Amino acid sequence: MGMVKVLLNGKEVEAFEGETILNLARRYGIEIPTLCYYEGFANGSCRICIVEVNGRLMPSCITKVSEGMRIETESTRVAEARKTLLKLLLKNHTHRSKEEQMRCRICGYAVKYGLEPAPIIPSVKVDDTHPAILFNPSACVMCRKCVIACGVDQNNDVIAVIGRGGSGTRVGFDLDIPMGMSSCVSCGACVDACPTGGALMEKDWVPADKVIETTCPYCGTGCQVEYGVRDGKVVWARGGAYGPANEGKLCVKGKFGYQYVNSPERLTKPLIRRPGVPKGPLNGRSIHEVFREATWEEALDLVASKIKEIISKYGPAAIGV
Ligand code: SF4
Ligand code: SF4
Ligand code: FES
Repeated sequence: MGMVKVLLNGKEVEAFEGETILNLARRYGIEIPTLCYYEGFANGSCRICIVEVNGRLMPSCITKVSEGMRIETESTRVAEARKTLLKLLLKNHTHRSKEEQMRCRICGYAVKYGLEPAPIIPSVKVDDTHPAILFNPSACVMCRKCVIACGVDQNNDVIAVIGRGGSGTRVGFDLDIPMGMSSCVSCGACVDACPTGGALMEKDWVPADKVIETTCPYCGTGCQVEYGVRDGKVVWARGGAYGPANEGKLCVKGKFGYQYVNSPERLTKPLIRRPGVPKGPLNGRSIHEVFREATWEEALDLVASKIKEIISKYGPAAIGV
């Protein structure tokens, strides 16, 4: 890939030929606001990412760099244009609570550009037919990120833009049926993609005190996951974009099945069968009548001694890892 030279906010920098201005800016640590941009799939519909290129306003997520470009990412003209766009978006954008408003990117940008965040109207009509996801059309700004997340990225094709050509244009599920009756597989990709924090959201979402990064404990794929933790309990999950196995995506278990972590019945210490208790169903006995708690050292020593026993009896081929 060839290199070109461009002026980025007055500084000469090297850019990869064919990369977008958004990509270039991110590589140089310059933040450009985005709403509809979905990693790898730019649809160029919201225009909040506009920058000045040789004196013209261009969307940075779909405009490729070329030799000698003069790019301004935060000029007065850019700021004014973004402010106008935000005013238009805010005309049809409300939230149901302060918490939802606070996690909304549009509201965050509005405050940054000197505007009031979206109004809070708790009593709007929502689609709450899905067991885990809530759809609030009053918060939707039609950025279409959910359509890309569901159709292009997850290959589920549940969400589409319907009612084209008039003021009725909106997001719909399958053949315009309630989300809970649609063919949704509850992967949550649309929820994680939605920039509003409230249009498509986890039904039981609450703000977290901190976010921890870990590996999803379910299967062996090794998906990276971020858990929101509040008062020592996991309260939501989202895919970690840095994970090579999942690149930010999760399945229904990883996204919505984390509650077992908070269960008081969850085993947190190894158990060893009590002497003389045969294998089989518990048959009404408590788990502690059948097993006793052990340390990890004791449990691992026991497993190692059992493996050695099998090898000496049947040979190494009897062990499969
Ligand atoms: S949860 Fe997954 S399958 Fe369901 S609508 Fe959202 S992206 Fe599509
Ligand atoms: S539901 Fe969210 S992601 Fe989908 S179009 Fe509306 S604002 Fe965009
Ligand atoms: S982020 Fe570039 S047009 Fe929406």
